[in-house]
Amino acid sequence: MNYDVASFQRAREGVQRIAWAERSMPVLRLIRQRFARTKPLRGLTIAACLHVTSETAVLMQTLKAGGASAVLCASNPLSTQDDVAAALVKVDAIPVFARHGEDRKTYYRHLQQAVAAKPVITMDDGADLVTLLHTSEQRAAARIWGSTEETTTGVIRLRSMEKRKLLKFPVIAVNDSATKHFFDNRYGTGQSTVDGITRATNILWAGKVAVIVGYGWCGRGVAMRAKGMGARVIVTEVDPLRALEAVMDGYEVMPIARAAGVGDVFITLTGNTSVIRREHFAAMKDGALVANSGHFNVELDLRDLKKLSRETYLARQHVRAFVLSKRRTVFVLGDGRLVNLAAAEGHPAAVMDMSFANQALAAEFVKKHHRTMDKRVHVLPTELDHQIAALKLKALGIRIDRLTPKQARYLDSWTAGT
Ligand code: ADE
Repeated sequence: MNYDVASFQRAREGVQRIAWAERSMPVLRLIRQRFARTKPLRGLTIAACLHVTSETAVLMQTLKAGGASAVLCASNPLSTQDDVAAALVKVDAIPVFARHGEDRKTYYRHLQQAVAAKPVITMDDGADLVTLLHTSEQRAAARIWGSTEETTTGVIRLRSMEKRKLLKFPVIAVNDSATKHFFDNRYGTGQSTVDGITRATNILWAGKVAVIVGYGWCGRGVAMRAKGMGARVIVTEVDPLRALEAVMDGYEVMPIARAAGVGDVFITLTGNTSVIRREHFAAMKDGALVANSGHFNVELDLRDLKKLSRETYLARQHVRAFVLSKRRTVFVLGDGRLVNLAAAEGHPAAVMDMSFANQALAAEFVKKHHRTMDKRVHVLPTELDHQIAALKLKALGIRIDRLTPKQARYLDSWTAGT
């Protein structure tokens, strides 16, 4: 078996951490049990480019239980949990190509190694694998039935390809399932971002001014959790609707140019490039902490910051100091990469349960329907969302009401009015 992981030394720890995650993933466990009985993915090779975490490991085991040959490479150089990668190779015999801290060249070599496994279905978190299949690995694209995409940034890239009619195969935007973005993006990013910043710095949030750059689902989640920790929250936005929502959610809203001089902690979650740049860094207070929780490490213009700095040094693990002057130092967390995965463990398993239930069902959907799917971006049927939500509620022991026949008739009729 071909693979590339850092070491097998901590494989045992990886096994334990995967088992720990699995305990909080009841929906994926149910899917795995069904997959093990019915083998809906029998004989298929699936290449996944995802964060190599204990939660992803449970997804990989699920695909394998369904009869697939699953191969995994990392979707981010800093998110790989080496113990988990080792456990997947050693215990589950699932090929993994991922090493924590790998350089760009190794990152892309790993993607190529995943493509070399000849997948018919691919899974992405950020669309790097799909992009490779439309650039240097185009020949392999002819074999692909379809792909799935985990995250907002990836879906934006895919829709840009769709608009230009470039897509060579259909893609399912898993991110767009309600049971994904309402929960993973909001509660997952909300909690794990605060967790990452706390673990990296051990700051006291109470009384801090937290500047949340971008009020999408992830920004909403982080704003909510930062507020819950006692921070005074400022939101910056470019979209008037979202800005208005932030105002009515009770946050202060202002341009980043003004927030730059006021904030203690800055967190970017826009999916866009250079949202904190030279003039903003130049205006920051001494001790300002700057982190990114958007998918790519392009949101903070670190080249600008470096140019502004006299000196940089590692202040503590995951915290780099940029000395702007004798009296002013700004600290960047996790090299500007996803702080929740670089400095913590990413989203908790309980929320990845629903995201990865969507991924597993999306793979099954592609297997069943790829012949009739257009080469565009699709979303999973709403019934699957409802099924996943119902299963999650059941696992949580929460019961809900049913419509009475009278209520169902009322909702269905158009004649009953005033
Ligand atoms: N994305 C965010 N958190 C994650 C996790 N724990 N595992 C996989 N992908 C993630």
